[in-house]
Amino acid sequence: MSKPKVFVCRDIPEQGLIIVQNYCKADVWPGEIPPSREELIAHIRDVDGLLCLLTDLIDQEVIEAAGPQLKVISNHAVGFDNVDVKSATRLGIPVGNTPGILTETTADFTFALIMATSRRLIEGHTCVRSGGWRTWGPKFLLGKDIFGATIGIVGYGRIGQAVARRARGFNMKILYYDPDLTGNSDPASLGAQATSLEELLRKSDFVTIHTPLNEQTYHMLDKKAFQKMKPDTILINTARGGIVESEALYIALKEHSIAFAALDVTEPEPIPIESPLLELDNLLITPHMASASQATRGKMAEMAACNLIAGLRGERLPYCVNPEVYDTNHFKV
Ligand code: GLV
Repeated sequence: MSKPKVFVCRDIPEQGLIIVQNYCKADVWPGEIPPSREELIAHIRDVDGLLCLLTDLIDQEVIEAAGPQLKVISNHAVGFDNVDVKSATRLGIPVGNTPGILTETTADFTFALIMATSRRLIEGHTCVRSGGWRTWGPKFLLGKDIFGATIGIVGYGRIGQAVARRARGFNMKILYYDPDLTGNSDPASLGAQATSLEELLRKSDFVTIHTPLNEQTYHMLDKKAFQKMKPDTILINTARGGIVESEALYIALKEHSIAFAALDVTEPEPIPIESPLLELDNLLITPHMASASQATRGKMAEMAACNLIAGLRGERLPYCVNPEVYDTNHFKV
């Protein structure tokens, strides 16, 4: 029996790639830069399965370009805003993602950003490297305490709760806002308090974003939101760039209506080098690396491979974002 044909949009960690290559005839996109739209469409034609990354826009046109034999789309990420899930469902194609595995790694990185910004780590490092460290100074590079401060967690799912666990260790007061959670139940049982978004923005010393990007959250942090924040607030975004309106953030930082921001995600990605945001001293920016630990990326690749193969076999995906696909008459076996 011939092996199913798949397109893998990047050279993923070996742990996952081996599984894919053992089971499939895999066309693996080489190199670091993702395929262009034209290249993606050319390579996806006639495949049975697609293993894509968050950098690949898998919209209706791309899905249809594959042809009616396409059985599964496996996204090597927990977020799936790059995939037109509605079109996939309509065509009977299950879409997989990699939830859970990157929760703690991403929460660690969120705390790395909280600590680096509040304690001015990058400025300290740059100062030493550039010969600016002349003596110990009582007023030199003073930062903001984390312990005892109020953290506002926007999105209290797996990653938001993992951040809350770390915040508890710092004896922080924890507020959270999650439009999908009703009541004040604090699912993580950490003494966190549910609030409105408005109250969270008004009261928090640190605002950290952990919601998915969707119609409801797109540009949720806009000009009005920044006007509600305290002038010493630090904003952290390790979720998706599109949740924050870049121009409003630029103005808020430039006018010091908030103190600092640390972004691991931007809109678009990569952020253009000429973006005015990059001229600001009160912005720390990293290249979408919150889940980038060796172990986690290996496990993500393995999960994405297992989703892909389950889909090719006509089995239920272990991690499926559109399980309703199995209730439709279109599901492909
Ligand atoms: C990373 O941003 C992911 O969604 O996995």
